[in-house]
Amino acid sequence: MLKIRVGEGNFLKDKNLNPVVLCWKDRLKESVFRECVESFPEMELMLNANKFKGDLDQISVLTVPRGKDVVAQFIFAGLGPVNQQTHENLECLRRAVGWCVHKAKQLELKNIALKVINGFEFDLPVDELVSQVVVAAKMAEYDFDDYKTGKEKKSWDSDLCIFADVDSVDIERGIQKGLVISESVNWTRHLADMPPNVATPVYVARKAQEMAREVGLEVNVFGPEKAKELNMGGFLAVQSGSEFDGQFIELKYNCGLPGARTVAFVGKGVTFDSGGVSLKPANYMTGMKYDMSGAAATMGALKAIAQFKPKVNVVAVAPMVENMPGGGSYRQDDIVTHYNGKTTEIENTDAEGRLILADALAYVNDRHKPVCIIDLATLTGACVVALGHFFSGLMTNNQKLADVLIEHGKRTGDWLWQLPMHPFYDKAIKSKVADLSNCGSRNYGAGTITAAKFLQHFVGDTPWAHIDIAGTESSIPDSAYAAKLSSGVGVRLLVDFVLACQEKLGFLQEEKLES
Ligand code: BES
Ligand code: ZN
Ligand code: ZN
Repeated sequence: MLKIRVGEGNFLKDKNLNPVVLCWKDRLKESVFRECVESFPEMELMLNANKFKGDLDQISVLTVPRGKDVVAQFIFAGLGPVNQQTHENLECLRRAVGWCVHKAKQLELKNIALKVINGFEFDLPVDELVSQVVVAAKMAEYDFDDYKTGKEKKSWDSDLCIFADVDSVDIERGIQKGLVISESVNWTRHLADMPPNVATPVYVARKAQEMAREVGLEVNVFGPEKAKELNMGGFLAVQSGSEFDGQFIELKYNCGLPGARTVAFVGKGVTFDSGGVSLKPANYMTGMKYDMSGAAATMGALKAIAQFKPKVNVVAVAPMVENMPGGGSYRQDDIVTHYNGKTTEIENTDAEGRLILADALAYVNDRHKPVCIIDLATLTGACVVALGHFFSGLMTNNQKLADVLIEHGKRTGDWLWQLPMHPFYDKAIKSKVADLSNCGSRNYGAGTITAAKFLQHFVGDTPWAHIDIAGTESSIPDSAYAAKLSSGVGVRLLVDFVLACQEKLGFLQEEKLES
C-alpha cells in the first residue's frame, strides 16, 4: 500500500528518499529541476543522453549514489508543454503523478518524495493541489486482483512524502482530503470491477449497508415486494428475468441543520446487462458488469461526503437489477406503469436503464423534494460513439446547474460535454399505445439525447442533470491513473460539487435553482 505523509528534511538530499521531479516541456531549467541540477550538476547531461525533454507521459529514471551502500532513484516525469487552460495542466499533473507511481511500484521503491509547486499553471490553493496529487497517486495504485491467486498477486508497501513550500498543516489538510476522496473512488472502482456472478443486487446492497455503517449514513434497502407497493413498474420489469431479486438502495447524509435542503443523486445499477430478451450480441455483452458504475459512483460519493460533513443534506438512490432473458423476463410490447403513474411501452428490453431510472428519479423527487437531482448512468452506446472515453455526456433542464457541473468536471478530471435538449427531440420517444416508448425512434438518431428526454419525464420541474458515463466508466486510453479497469468516474465530480455548494454557492439551501 502507498502511505502518504508530509515530507520532512531535505527533499533532494535525504538519502532515504527517492525524489520525483515533475517538469514542463521546454522549461527544464525551472523550479524543482533547477534545484536538482544545482545539487547534482551531472544530471542535466544524463537526462539529455536519455532524450528526456519533459514530454507528457515521458519518464526517465536516474540512479544516483548516496554514500557507500545506498543509491537513490530520481524519477523525472514530463508534464508536456504548459497549456492555456489550468484544467488541462491539472490533468497533465495527474497523469505524470500516475506514471511515477507505476514506475516506483515497478522498481519497488520504499520511499518516494514529491514536491508540489503551486505555479500559475494550476491556479489552485496548495492544499487543493496536494489533494489532487494524492488522489492521482492513490488512483494510480489501484488494482483489482482479488481473484488472482499465487505469484501474479503483487504487494507493494511504500511511503510517498509530500513536500511544498507552505505550512505542514496545509499539506496535511490536502493529504487528508485526497485520501478520503481517493478511498471513495477506489471503493467505487472495486465494486464496479467485481464480477457479476458475485456482485448481484443483494451483494451490492450489503456492501452499501456495510459502508453506511462505517461512515455513518442512513440506509434503506427494499426488494420487489415493496417496489410493487410503490408502483415501480420499470424497476420490477427489468429485474424479472433474473434469478436475483432487484434491490432498491437509498443512502442519506443528514447535515443536521434545520431547514437544510437536499441534493439528490441517482445511479443506474444494472449488475449485468445481457440485453434481456432483446439479447446483445456476445461481443457487446462483455464488460456489461460495468453497467452499475453509476450506482457505485453515487454511493462512493456519499461515502466521502459523510466524512466531509458538508452543510447540506445529500441522498443517493441506486436501483440495482440484473437484466437477463429468463422465462419470467419482461418482453417487447409489454407496457409498464412507473412510480409517478406514467406508462411506457417496451420496444427493446436492452433499453433497461431508463426504466429503472424513471422509477428512481420520480421516487427521489417525490420523497425528498430535492433542490436538484444529478443522475449518473451508463445509459447509451451512442454516447460512447459521440464522445469516446474522456468526456461524459451532460444533459439538463437547467443551464445554471450544467455550468456549475462543467466547471467541477474540469477541476476534478471528470470532464463533461453538454448535448442539446431541444424540444425537437421530444417526439422521438412517443408511443402509439402508452405515454412513452423506451426506445428512441430511429428517424431521430441521437440515442443519447432521446434517452435523456425519456428521463426528463420523471423529474418534474426540479433542476436536473443527467450524466451519461457509458464511455467513461472503464478502460480510459492513456490515463496513468484511471486506465485500469473501472475508472470510478463521477465520484470526484459529485464530491467537489457538494463541497462547493455548501462553501461558496449557498444557493442550494435558500432557493431552488432558477430554470
Ligand atoms: N448499458 C447499455 C449502454 C452501454 C453500451 C453502456 C456500451 C456501456 C457501453 C444500455 O442499457 C443499452 O443497451 N442501451 C441501448 C439502448 C437502445 C436499445 C435504445 C444502446 O445504447 O444500444
Ligand atoms: Zn441495455
Ligand atoms: Zn444497460
